[in-house]
Amino acid sequence: YKRITVKSLTEMKRNNEKISMLTAYDYTMARIIDNAGVDVILVGDSASNVMAGHETTLPITLDQMIYHASSVLRAVERSLVVVDLPFGSYQSDPKEALRSAIRIMKESGGHSVKLEGGSEVKDSIKRILHAGIPVMGHLGLTPQSIYKFGTYTVRAKEKAEAEKLKEDALALQRWGCFAIVLEKVPAALAQEVADSLTIPVIGIGAGSGVDGQVLVSHDMFGMTHEFNPRFLRRYLNLYEEMGNAVGQYVKDVKDVDFPNDKEQY
Ligand code: KIV
Ligand code: NA
Repeated sequence: YKRITVKSLTEMKRNNEKISMLTAYDYTMARIIDNAGVDVILVGDSASNVMAGHETTLPITLDQMIYHASSVLRAVERSLVVVDLPFGSYQSDPKEALRSAIRIMKESGGHSVKLEGGSEVKDSIKRILHAGIPVMGHLGLTPQSIYKFGTYTVRAKEKAEAEKLKEDALALQRWGCFAIVLEKVPAALAQEVADSLTIPVIGIGAGSGVDGQVLVSHDMFGMTHEFNPRFLRRYLNLYEEMGNAVGQYVKDVKDVDFPNDKEQY
């Protein structure tokens, strides 16, 4: 694939090729991730936690999401870019949802949007899709509803919630969503959902039976260190490595070791 589109993702599912997805919130990181060949880049509202240090994803604004997304879009040449609609930008009414999605598309150059929920946001999803904007769904643990859930633990362990999730997934496909993120649900349920759909299901903490995986890049690089869910695999330990680099730099400056004769004019 020279350039990933929403159609490429359906093809990948049909060909049993797993889809790779990572978050990015800025130009430099997006450049690295796009160039290394990830299929989908998510400008997640997890920027609220990772970039801004908020405890939840609720505070981040549409303007801030557009700032992050436009930075990412300037870097990307191949990946499909999905931009999260932040909390408050699509729940109140479908017209506002469409307005928010249009702002993201026009002002950031994003290729698609993602929003959380199923039947609750049906009219908003349909309205955005009618405007020709691809929509990715997000079910299971939906962090914008954290105050309803009370905890970030595994969702849909009970039958009623699992049944609703399965219905919502089918509905999202029926309405025309191009893919669904499933966050923190039992692997068996996630696999069942993926098997029941022709659109790809991208999991995070949803096991290996789904059509692709997504992680928050700062977590997978090991830049964060207090967040330790079972599903997180760290590919680097940058928290320690970067900390050591800073420590070394401080020492070199104090010792007048940096800059040396060759590092000046
Ligand atoms: O905001 C985000 O990073 C996400 C992923 C965890 C799916 O929505
Ligand atoms: Na998100």
